[in-house]
Amino acid sequence: MSEPKLKDVLSRATAVLSEAGVDSPALSAQLLAEKVFGLDRLGLIMEMGRAVKEGPVAEFMELVERRASGEPAAYILGVKEFFGLEFKVGPGVLIPRPETEEIVEKVQDLFGADDNFLFSDFGTGSGILAVTVAKLFPRSRGIAVDLSPAALEIAQENARLHEVDDRVQFVLADFNRPLLSEAKFDLILANPPYLCEAELDEISYEVAEFEPVSALVSGPLGDEDIRGSVPHIGAALKKGGMSFMEIGYLQGKVAYDIFDSCADFSGGVEVVKDLSGHDRIVVAEKR
Ligand SMILES: C[S@@+](CC[C@H](N)C(=O)[O-])C[C@H]1O[C@@H](n2cnc3c(N)ncnc32)[C@H](O)[C@@H]1O
Repeated sequence: MSEPKLKDVLSRATAVLSEAGVDSPALSAQLLAEKVFGLDRLGLIMEMGRAVKEGPVAEFMELVERRASGEPAAYILGVKEFFGLEFKVGPGVLIPRPETEEIVEKVQDLFGADDNFLFSDFGTGSGILAVTVAKLFPRSRGIAVDLSPAALEIAQENARLHEVDDRVQFVLADFNRPLLSEAKFDLILANPPYLCEAELDEISYEVAEFEPVSALVSGPLGDEDIRGSVPHIGAALKKGGMSFMEIGYLQGKVAYDIFDSCADFSGGVEVVKDLSGHDRIVVAEKR
């Protein structure tokens, strides 16, 4: 039997993904095909008429089946883009979300490219915030903390990949406990888990089944890690230092109250909306 053409394999994969209810089935099939056949988007389009061998086709269809079963494309591909940079991801870390890019924009509003500052990233996950900030600000230095050794390993790999590993230290630590004995940081970034336990039943199967619960859920009300970390963020920031924390879109009021009732931040707190108009980032200045 003659070998199938790439375009036939792709339309078979698109049909499988569409049948499984995967979002953007054609695009998902293309992304997986680029990985297996070693082509970029343009190459894929130009090589549509090319015959493909049985081995790679079987490998490709295996990835398609994984995607059809709900496994996120980022875990299958092992990478996800954040702020224009490619990051390694794996089952031990949260897949970077586009709304988190708005924290990086806030840092760009605060500092000039040549500024020298010390920052921390509370709950670094794949390291996206720490690595992106270190990359954008070559004179900055950072300490990134997480409770998950698997996440720290991936974050360290991303720091090496983007050549900032000499300026970012990765530490296994609990951000709900004191981190340092002195106020040291100019900036603390945080994207703590913020879903409540009940929300876990409501979110998509892909997220609930494949992403780490410890990166998503924060106690019965979803605010345990905001409550737990704010006093330690306050204690670790220098006077005048800033904290940018991502929160759930329904947490604006509760997060504002938690920050504002902490003496370190009282009167210096603002909740900023994301591009979709939802409460998303708490901006707080250490008084
Ligand atoms: C929502 S994820 C954010 C990951 C990454 N910063 C991002 O924006 O994609 C929260 C991260 O906080 C970590 N984490 C949860 N509780 C923690 C704690 N008490 N101390 C330190 N890290 C914690 C989780 O392991 C996870 O990597």
